[in-house]
Amino acid sequence: MIKKFLNLKHYCPVDLHDPVSGKEITLDTLSEVIPPSLAKLELSRDKYIEIPEELWPVYESYRPTSIFRAKKFEHAIGTDCEIYIKDEGESPTKNHKANSAFLIAYLCKKDGIDTITTETTGNWGIALAMAGNKFGVKTICFMDYESHRKRPDRKSLMEKFGAEVIIVNPKKDEKVKDLLSLSADAAIEYTKKLKNARYIFGSVYGYFIIPQSIIGLEIKEQLSAMGQYPDIIIGSCGGGANLLGTSAIFLADILDDKRKTKIVSAEAATCPILSEGRIGMFSIDNLKYYPLMKTYGIDGLKKGNYIGGLGSTIVASPVAYFHGRGLIEVDQFSSNEAKNAAELFFKSEERFVALETGYAIASVIKQARINNKKIIVVNISSGDTDKQFYGELS
Ligand SMILES: Cc1ncc(COP(=O)(O)O)c(C=O)c1O
Repeated sequence: MIKKFLNLKHYCPVDLHDPVSGKEITLDTLSEVIPPSLAKLELSRDKYIEIPEELWPVYESYRPTSIFRAKKFEHAIGTDCEIYIKDEGESPTKNHKANSAFLIAYLCKKDGIDTITTETTGNWGIALAMAGNKFGVKTICFMDYESHRKRPDRKSLMEKFGAEVIIVNPKKDEKVKDLLSLSADAAIEYTKKLKNARYIFGSVYGYFIIPQSIIGLEIKEQLSAMGQYPDIIIGSCGGGANLLGTSAIFLADILDDKRKTKIVSAEAATCPILSEGRIGMFSIDNLKYYPLMKTYGIDGLKKGNYIGGLGSTIVASPVAYFHGRGLIEVDQFSSNEAKNAAELFFKSEERFVALETGYAIASVIKQARINNKKIIVVNISSGDTDKQFYGELS
């Protein structure tokens, strides 16, 4: 069992600034917005962060998640690369979000917070609702109208764990820049009226990204037990949790040990956050509430099909920093390419993957075709709740 998370910000420059003064944010100012324990984690530059002992049994109940070689999928692609699948679908909520939800809900409880509010396109809300329920913190999830239409089951899954779910519609004449900030703004406005409540964003920030590092730390140990080390790591990228969670230790190995692993971010063509994002000061909200982060941002999404959690207009600062240094590459796919990739994966491995994971699978196919005899690793989120995306397969 992994006992320490890896904090990639150890290698990165200062990224967080006060949204009002524009100056580097202090622990005291940040602690007014997010609970002090999360603020401390957010500003930490330590390479390793101890996992609180009280959480060991929680993570142990579903970790380490399995890793398996997808031989049938390799055969379907016609590649001599070895493809390893890290199965975050084994988490209690069928995706990687639970890793962050447990730490966040635990620290909020420890800091005496009664209510956590958040935005969600579905998956994150379920994870937070479950973790809030476990640690006795009320959760209120704000879900945009479009995600609710596309993922109608998610609301009742959140409610099953005791969360309150508020569906967010644009205000009259409001131009929606992106669905995540629409819900984030609604959640923040609501939170300000509550007593002892905090708004927690479901990606991008260190408190969310750091616990995801457990995925890559396990992959490294699991592959090492097979005498392997990855050549290529692929993650789908919305806010960056999945991508950095899978690749953090391998990025650290590149920097510390001059390893040559290729890290690939699979992004949606309608949200080209790495390909077209510009460096600047951004926040997920439009209310000058959350800290500004020096990272890549885009003004809004391009027209196209629904992309769920991949529609973030800002990305975790380490993604921007390492992309800027040439250590993270990008593969971009249309929703059809992602869907076709997910279907091919289903037909060969008989596993449904989340809509967002389809983009990572498309990248696996591309990388397996342009490389020879490489070890490729991807982390999948899967579950029967995701089969609604696969048309005739559902
Ligand atoms: C299954 C899955 N993968 C990937 C993502 C993208 O978000 P992030 O980059 O923060 O992991 C999401 C977000 O909702 C998701 O649900």
